[in-house]
Amino acid sequence: MKDVKESKFLREFTATLSNMYRLGWDERNGGNLSEILDEDEVKKYLDTDKVIRTIPLNFDAQYLAGKIFLITGTGKYFKNAEADPENNVGIFRVSPDGQNALLLWGYADGGRFTSELPAHLMSHIERLKIDTLHRVILHTHPTNIIAMTFVHDLDERNFTYTLWQMITECMVVFPDGIGVLPWMICGTNEIGVATAEKMKKYRLCVWAQHGIFGSGRDLDEAFGLVETVEKAAEIYLKIKPFEIKAKIEDDQLKQIAERFNVSYPDGWLK
Ligand code: 13P
Ligand code: ZN
Repeated sequence: MKDVKESKFLREFTATLSNMYRLGWDERNGGNLSEILDEDEVKKYLDTDKVIRTIPLNFDAQYLAGKIFLITGTGKYFKNAEADPENNVGIFRVSPDGQNALLLWGYADGGRFTSELPAHLMSHIERLKIDTLHRVILHTHPTNIIAMTFVHDLDERNFTYTLWQMITECMVVFPDGIGVLPWMICGTNEIGVATAEKMKKYRLCVWAQHGIFGSGRDLDEAFGLVETVEKAAEIYLKIKPFEIKAKIEDDQLKQIAERFNVSYPDGWLK
């Protein structure tokens, strides 16, 4: 069998973690990433029937029973994952009853999956219901998005609208908008349920004073969504102290939506 460290899926996953670290989004162990893997692909590298450890999930993931996930470990630093994936990330299958993670590879130092597993798996469930091709949930702590949650109101329409106005491409990249949660204790089933509720409507969910969740069909899509929001938030903070002399108006946002054939929530534009 081939070495899983040579697999495209693991290499792309850890390269994404390195990129996020280098952008300054993931200090220390900040952030977590999960991807649903294709079982046939995993089988080229691992005996998918060989369970090395069983870890309780502490919530019901029956909807995902049998699915195989690649996911970062709790307390692990993104900056270290590319050089040492076996200690920093893990591959597990959700048990048939949806109650346990059946570890197939990784978390080699005795570690376990991220503390944000509820938000990841619950969000995967909701995104899969909407899009069968959905695969990735990404959580990170981008500086400007977090900063914006201190100075902008947290109404979802207003938050999204401000960001749409910052870069012409924003309406093209996230026309569906951004969910926003007020500050909550992280790493709990409760924040998982609240995040997944937002994921029924949006592919992005901001956690005020904490970070953001993004989703996508692949790593690039989830990363690109967050990258675009983060850049728009940076521009918002850069221009905020100054007098605004020009801006993208509602009718121009409508023109963008029409030109790129995307639809936005009813009533969000005048
Ligand atoms: P983990 O180290 O458990 O993944 O937690 C990091 C984090 O970002 C919590 O929200
Ligand atoms: Zn976090």
